Amino acid sequence: MAADALIELRGVNKHYGKLHVLQDIDLTVGRGEVVVIIGPSGSGKSTLCRAINRLETIESGTIRLDGVPLPEEGRALAELRAEVGMVFQSFNLFAHKTVLANVMLAPVKVRRKKKEEAAQRARELLDRVGLAAHAEKYPAQLSGGQQQRVAIARALAMEPKALLFDEPTSALDPEMINEVLEVMRQLARDGMTMVVVTHEMGFARSAANRVVFMADGRIVEDRTPEEFFTAPRSERAKDFLSKILKH
Ligand SMILES: Nc1ncnc2c1ncn2[C@@H]1O[C@H](COP(=O)(O)OP(=O)(O)OP(=O)(O)O)[C@@H](O)[C@H]1O
Ligand SMILES: [Mg+2]
Repeated sequence: MAADALIELRGVNKHYGKLHVLQDIDLTVGRGEVVVIIGPSGSGKSTLCRAINRLETIESGTIRLDGVPLPEEGRALAELRAEVGMVFQSFNLFAHKTVLANVMLAPVKVRRKKKEEAAQRARELLDRVGLAAHAEKYPAQLSGGQQQRVAIARALAMEPKALLFDEPTSALDPEMINEVLEVMRQLARDGMTMVVVTHEMGFARSAANRVVFMADGRIVEDRTPEEFFTAPRSERAKDFLSKILKH
């Protein structure tokens, strides 16, 4: 593998019944790289993200993280999940816990960190996502954009090697999208390795090192944003871009 590859997929295949949802996927994400995945609904973007985190099994091919094949199960799998954070469209915060408790939870439970240490780190992370003043609130007392920033802080609390984002702004009101994208841009500038499924083409243009275009379970294009947006090669990508850039 390439010297600086952090996530590497080779010949990955998966079916849901007759549907061939991932077809011979080859994808390398370098350390510190930001890869944006776009494509029509049902093309397999979420399945790909979930496979990288082993939330979905694959039938053939290999997925390596930092050179190590994904473990099948057990403690090794739990550790892998901790190394690759995931941020979903729905924030999945614990409603009955404060913002601070949400961010501290996994480091204490999974990493066995001391509470004071975890709390201090959680406060630093909340500060980083602009929510230091909201640590004692409950999720329902925050806006959607604030809740999603808590979810990002929570993912960061495990000190992951990479972060996967699956449409992190799709459930947000328009005025909240930017505050979440700005946190993600800052993470990218800080060198975090990120795989981001999004329809935010502005983010793809400004923050991505590469754009991966998927259709029908295949990677159809894998190029720089400049190349992809100015001169898409495939008819599928041209068609997709003409639809999404119109509105
Ligand atoms: N658990 C499942 N069982 C059966 N089929 C599934 C399952 N999950 C996803 N699929 C199907 O696999 C295909 C790819 O789904 P996936 O969620 O990966 O697409 P996507 O590119 O993320 O789409 P969207 O943009 O709508 O989120 C779709 O046709 C979907 O209906
Ligand atoms: Mg999806």
